[in-house]
Amino acid sequence: MANVIVVGAQFGDEGKAKVTDLLARNADMVVRYQGGANAGHTVVVHGETYKFHLIPSGILYPGKTCVLGPGMVIDPKSLLSELSGLMDRGLEDSKLRISASAHVTMPYHFLIDAAEEDSRGDQKIGTTKRGIGPTYADKCARSGIRMEDLLDRDVLKAKLDWMVPRKNVLLERIYNLPPLDADEIVNEYYELGQKVKKYVCDTAALIFQAIGDRKNILFEGAQGTLLDLDHGTYPFVTSSSPTAGGACTGTGVGPTTIDRVIGVMKAYVTRVGEGPFPTELTDSLGQRLREVGVEVGTTTGRPRRCGWFDAVLGRYAVRINGLDCLAITKLDVLDGFEEIQVCTAYRDKQTGETVTEMPTIGSKFQHMEPIYTTVKGWLTPTTECKSVKDLPENAKKYLDMISEELDCPIAIVSVGPNRDHTVVIEDPIHGPKRVLSKQPVK
Ligand code: IMP
Repeated sequence: MANVIVVGAQFGDEGKAKVTDLLARNADMVVRYQGGANAGHTVVVHGETYKFHLIPSGILYPGKTCVLGPGMVIDPKSLLSELSGLMDRGLEDSKLRISASAHVTMPYHFLIDAAEEDSRGDQKIGTTKRGIGPTYADKCARSGIRMEDLLDRDVLKAKLDWMVPRKNVLLERIYNLPPLDADEIVNEYYELGQKVKKYVCDTAALIFQAIGDRKNILFEGAQGTLLDLDHGTYPFVTSSSPTAGGACTGTGVGPTTIDRVIGVMKAYVTRVGEGPFPTELTDSLGQRLREVGVEVGTTTGRPRRCGWFDAVLGRYAVRINGLDCLAITKLDVLDGFEEIQVCTAYRDKQTGETVTEMPTIGSKFQHMEPIYTTVKGWLTPTTECKSVKDLPENAKKYLDMISEELDCPIAIVSVGPNRDHTVVIEDPIHGPKRVLSKQPVK
């Protein structure tokens, strides 16, 4: 029995779905704990590509319970369309469960997300325009619509009769958009509620039961540590808690039930949307990483910004998530590079100071420039490597350097898109638990 969190340890798109897919084989339950249809998780199985936005990739294995937890925000239309696409390809929905407490992304959330973004001009966040921020804002304001509300027409109507006129003031007066009709939304969303009703339940109780039955539970994060609302590069973040702590609040399990936290990082860094990115390459090297790594957003189709591995951000992710070990993905993308750079510290452009920890003051972060250590590339294909001994020497040195810089062991290395393009260095779940290094006593 082991309860494991898989968390994105950079800016999202680290390849979490591939790692979740690998670990889901031995899990009984796979649980998404935050975010919504802004996520885009890709898994390639026997040459077939599956793209997930809301549903945990554990659905690829028959018999696994897949849970959408209370910390998520759910667009029921997107959910039903994703589900029917998966069922058309022969997958089963009988073990899908959705929290009655998860919040619903409503039509006005989409409109407000897009209108706010457009009005921000050069202050824009670069959101996915999936209504995520406005849905979480209503949740925090205690005026959100939850999945349970879709199941009761009277409750839904009462809430929307109050809410829609208020949203219309915003839409009409601030954004010059046509108003919405509350009754139409009640009818449409009640109907959607009827379609998803069979999946809706108290998922926290379900998970508690599974813990009691000593089942293996995998908590699947979306987005990444640096996009966390509290711990990311605010305001250029998403509105949920992708970090490991979010797995507890977003599902209703206590932290003592978690056995392992695995952080997923690419062998380089990508980011979609706006915000600081000290190691970003805006030249032909960045273009090359983008092309070789096929770095295009799964949800929005936007090209991803690309750059070298950033150990400062990596150390921060190890600390904020309490990572036990790392899964490094897309190592093969670096196969053709003669030289590879690793950012080990920043130089503050304003003061000239060397900075080894991530500055939490957003405005300071903008002034950081990377200090690089250059390492030699391996110029050998790694995709067919099956074990550590198959990896080229310089690739091993590169991985060792990352592990040392981050003071965290690497358990898994992904060397290609398929399930079997994976090198397992050590068992990420049953291997030794990471203990904090001793700090000098001051
Ligand atoms: P939102 O989550 O749509 O509000 O977008 C906020 C920020 O998070 C933007 O910079 C998005 O590009 C980014 N973001 C949201 N979801 C993902 C994801 O799944 N991968 C990478 N970036 C994401």
